[in-house]
Amino acid sequence: MRFGQGLLDEILRRTDLVQLVGRRVKLVRKGRVFWGCCPFHKEKTPSFKVENERRTYHCFGCGAGGDAFKWLMETEGLTFPESVERLAGEAGVELPKWTPEDEAREQKKKSLYEIVELAAAFYEAQLRAERGAEARKYLAARGLNEAAAKQFRLGYAPSNNALIAHLQARNVPLEDMIAAGLARPAEDGRGPRDFFFDRLMFPISDGRGKLVAFGARALSPDAKPKYINTGDTALFSKGHLLYNFATARPAALKSGNIVLAEGYMDVIALVRAGFEASVAPLGTALTEDQLHLLWRAAAEPVLCFDGDEAGLRAALRAARLSLPHLKPGFSLRFAFMPKDEDPDSFLRAHGADAMKKILDAAEPLAQVLWRLETEGRDFATPERRAGLERALAEIVSSIGDAMVADYYRRDFEQRVFDNFKRRAPARPAGRLRPAGEKPGRFAGPAAPVSPEVKNSLLARASGSGARRLKEQEIARLLLEAPDLAAAHAELLAHLSFGDPLLDRLRRELLNLAASGFPLEKGRLEDHLNRAGMAGLFARFSLRNPEAAPAGEEGRGDASAEDLEIRFLRATAQLREIVEIEPERRRALERFKSEATEESWQEARILLETRKSANEG
Ligand code: UTP
Ligand code: MN
Repeated sequence: MRFGQGLLDEILRRTDLVQLVGRRVKLVRKGRVFWGCCPFHKEKTPSFKVENERRTYHCFGCGAGGDAFKWLMETEGLTFPESVERLAGEAGVELPKWTPEDEAREQKKKSLYEIVELAAAFYEAQLRAERGAEARKYLAARGLNEAAAKQFRLGYAPSNNALIAHLQARNVPLEDMIAAGLARPAEDGRGPRDFFFDRLMFPISDGRGKLVAFGARALSPDAKPKYINTGDTALFSKGHLLYNFATARPAALKSGNIVLAEGYMDVIALVRAGFEASVAPLGTALTEDQLHLLWRAAAEPVLCFDGDEAGLRAALRAARLSLPHLKPGFSLRFAFMPKDEDPDSFLRAHGADAMKKILDAAEPLAQVLWRLETEGRDFATPERRAGLERALAEIVSSIGDAMVADYYRRDFEQRVFDNFKRRAPARPAGRLRPAGEKPGRFAGPAAPVSPEVKNSLLARASGSGARRLKEQEIARLLLEAPDLAAAHAELLAHLSFGDPLLDRLRRELLNLAASGFPLEKGRLEDHLNRAGMAGLFARFSLRNPEAAPAGEEGRGDASAEDLEIRFLRATAQLREIVEIEPERRRALERFKSEATEESWQEARILLETRKSANEG
């Protein structure tokens, strides 16, 4: 590595991120955080924040985020080394000199890009030449015209090592053709050979739109394998890219949606039918890197699977793969094609409107997981139900984000309740279980509230009084179970309390957790007394009526697990109130003044997320 981590940190430390981002985005300060309208997607109210302390930017709308290097890569199309050089120059940090090996490697990569580009142009020309007749016929039979071929730079790879001859005539060394994945070396007494021959060629580009590899389909229906792809090269690693991503991403940021199909032909058919934001993996099952790419384009990518057994298996695999990476606001949806159809065949048979219906009906991840665990099975015996509970609990436990995991647990509880009609407990939501009652994993949901009650809850949760109450609730839980601060330090570090005393407590707990101080109630009380926060324990004494909202008494009996869940729920709700609520209020205001379809849709979506965040 030319740049060590220490050096990179040094550059970031010396870079004023707010000022850097401020060159492109108008930012307004609110406390330690600067807000602006996200430059990566269309929005009228700011959901994009920049923090100098954390040296990061993040958009709650589209999920874009990163450090100063990433910012330059994304907004100015620089490569990573280029952005390092730029910022080092601005920050006055001296970079180590290029070694001759660095130079050679960079040069090599540049020439590989050129070779892949030369090959693509050659394949394109061959598709239009005499020996491309068969391939042209094939394309026509699959409903693809000249415009489609041009748009995706489709080509034809002829036989007889035509590419090697073509590149040799342009002074490309054979070893570079091999390095680019376009030729096989001589072996077993045979000379070097073209890697691709007699195939329809699909050029693959990297995230910046530069060609790096090819997918290739056999023309005859019984040729095996049906598709082959460039192997991994210095430019290309198949698990890290998605077909058509460079064009799909801007389209997705505009529309808010991205579709992942299984194959190249599906992507082409989708784009041609108007679904511009469509991508596919490159001849492998979906990888975690590809998931993160999808989330850089949209908050809830739609994964579109064939309606057969294999499609269902692939969906299950993708669903499980995503669990450790889910984040608040970021999930997946699943669209299933009818049996024996893929998007390509379906679009040809039924058209874009029918396809849109399928995509619009995409199911949320939680529902798909539930269906995969339950469909076609019989849960008539207690053992089978217990087995289901265990399977669901396993799903929840593999979710990486504590807040998302908590919501999943409640979602599954609700589904178990709805499906098995377990008796609903008589107590209201949030209330502690009576002494002696085990906190079963599926304890049943709250009784439904009347619309009036719900409305008043919603109103209450949107005022600043709600914020104060939430902060107090969290502080009280932390005093009750101080080890929560160690277990959830990161979460706590990302909160900020409006009440200065409570925020001091929060920071003090984080310091203690970081220093390994045994976080236990008695010792903490002593410590706080000495640190000049003597009033805190008294303020949150068990019977303080203000600090304990109605229906939450009897904390003394609460189990550690219970306290933790309430802590996670309360922190999620506080974040809701602080970070998302202002956006919702603005959307609602806009709708009230404009009453347009667009502003209504926006307000509706935001209100729906509020509803689900406040339920349970
Ligand atoms: P499918 O077998 O579903 O093919 O493979 P398809 O996309 O419908 O292709 P057509 O319509 O028959 O032309 C989906 C994807 O899996 C990869 C390719 O990326 C393909 O687009 N694949 C498939 C391979 O890499 N090798 C194969 O032999 C088959
Ligand atoms: Mn197909």
